[in-house]
Amino acid sequence: MKVNNTDFNKANVGEIVTLNGWVSKKRDLGGLVFIDLRDRSGIIQLVISPECSAYDVALNLKNEFVIKVTGEVVLRENANDNLKTGEIEVNVTDIEILNESNELPFDLNNMTALEDTRLKYRYLDLRRSELKDKIILKHKIMQGAREFLNKNDFLEIETPILCKSTPEGARDYLVPSRVNKGSFYALPQSPQLFKQLLMMSGFERYYQVARCFRDEDLRADRQPEFTQIDMEMSFVSEDDVMNLTEGLLAHICKVSKDMDIQTPFVRMTYKEAMDLYGSDKPDTRFDMKINDITDGFKNTDFAVFKGVIDDGGIINAIVVRNGADSHSRKDIDKLTDFVKVYKANALAFLKYNGEFSGSISKFVDDETGNYLKEKLNLEDNDLVLIVAGDKKIVKNALGALRLKLGKDLGLIDENKFNFLWVTDFPMFEYSEEEGRYLACHHPFTHPADVNSLDDKENALARAYDIVLNGYEIGGGSIRIHDPKVQEKVLEALEFSKEDAYDKFGFLLDALTFGAPPHGGLALGLERLTMILAGTDNIRDVIAFPKTTSASCLMTQAPNTVATKQLDELHIKLK
Ligand code: AMO
Repeated sequence: MKVNNTDFNKANVGEIVTLNGWVSKKRDLGGLVFIDLRDRSGIIQLVISPECSAYDVALNLKNEFVIKVTGEVVLRENANDNLKTGEIEVNVTDIEILNESNELPFDLNNMTALEDTRLKYRYLDLRRSELKDKIILKHKIMQGAREFLNKNDFLEIETPILCKSTPEGARDYLVPSRVNKGSFYALPQSPQLFKQLLMMSGFERYYQVARCFRDEDLRADRQPEFTQIDMEMSFVSEDDVMNLTEGLLAHICKVSKDMDIQTPFVRMTYKEAMDLYGSDKPDTRFDMKINDITDGFKNTDFAVFKGVIDDGGIINAIVVRNGADSHSRKDIDKLTDFVKVYKANALAFLKYNGEFSGSISKFVDDETGNYLKEKLNLEDNDLVLIVAGDKKIVKNALGALRLKLGKDLGLIDENKFNFLWVTDFPMFEYSEEEGRYLACHHPFTHPADVNSLDDKENALARAYDIVLNGYEIGGGSIRIHDPKVQEKVLEALEFSKEDAYDKFGFLLDALTFGAPPHGGLALGLERLTMILAGTDNIRDVIAFPKTTSASCLMTQAPNTVATKQLDELHIKLK
């Protein structure tokens, strides 16, 4: 049995077929009526001639009517190379209208409608092949992942959605308990603790296509609910997890896009990534690395740079090759405004043309000039953009500027898929908001050196991220399995014993009953799909997504509820 209308081709010419689908387009050429019939697989052309008994029905068909037609597959006079079925058409003998359709709130063939309108009628928007194909790609990725992991001896095990609130970085979504007055479940930010517990149960290799929920500020690559391809393994090292993930991604790319990717992936330490790209998820599809030119100004008369160096800051630069002539003062002012958003005080610039001109050229003496020429490999017409100040701010600002220039100047090869491991993450990161150090990955990540936990600025973790084209598509770590090490890490994170036991005593207990060494990783399914689908909007790969204010415009969730429901939950609104 043929499932898809577009399975028919030249080989079926002469066959009588019955097709179902939607009227995507109708053209009445004063005699023959042509219809583009759409089903999930695409379009097939129908022809209805005046001699056909269903001709009047055809004349009255409107877009998006659902019909069933019978007819003969015939060769087309003029083949349409853009359609899979472009060589044939169906000469219709009978039409049955299965359902009519009101005029749609927007034209599916002409996408000028506002996104809000399309989100309100998401089920209609999903009829468009641009969206539908991305959802189909996501399906293939998910199935590919299952296929690969099943073959590699993993077990798919579900973990609870109604959980206990545990510290994982983001804010929890809470669910009030009716039965336990005043108590709340939390929706899982990830199955992290459960998958570790499964290792302690002896399952050794676990995976799950896991729904995760995080109440955080949303961005183009973040949704409040999303899916992880979540894995955990016992008796493994970083290399084991990374090799397996590379095999998994290679399989996914093959089955979803028939794409061969090169393994092993490049590895870069967190420090290298921050130093050279100003980001822990560098987009390596174009060069333009960040250069530290502090040394070139160590004897400078320029008071601003001198002050920065005296305060322990750095001076860094990126070079726009051949960009001197094409960047006016006004252009550079705009770039200055851009870096100021990232807290940089200013953007200095130099143009090189055998000699230096630009905002700080009078401070470039022969020595500094030679230093810059050599360090930055300057050639005529190069533009040097410089930020000076606190290291974090400088790296962050130049990292963002690098990305902007990469996009604006068309330096990025959109056909490239650059997978990259970022390793040796810091164990801790300082939170200005909380005024203390938090776990950079999560509190169950194994430190690189158990004895260096006191040096919070420099302590490293056995954590790794997988990055694709500048997006973090996954992350993981080797976990702590020794209760004494876990205790030390919690101490370093300023958890009191009571607090730690109160929050995740079940895990701390489990570590004392023969916990195996273990580690794992989770891939963000939507992020991976987004990139493989060539979109930068995560909503495009989710059938029913939320807006940036975490609401669903179609169902109107979240919504108020009846007082009776709140009463049952023992909740009174403030
Ligand atoms: P992490 O928090 O890094 O790790 O999440 C893993 C991956 O999930 C994706 N992701 C998201 N995708 C869409 N919307 C979001 N709000 C969102 N948040 C995260 C990212 C990210 O790399 N338990 C650990 C994994 C582990 O250690 O095994 C975890 O959740 O692509």
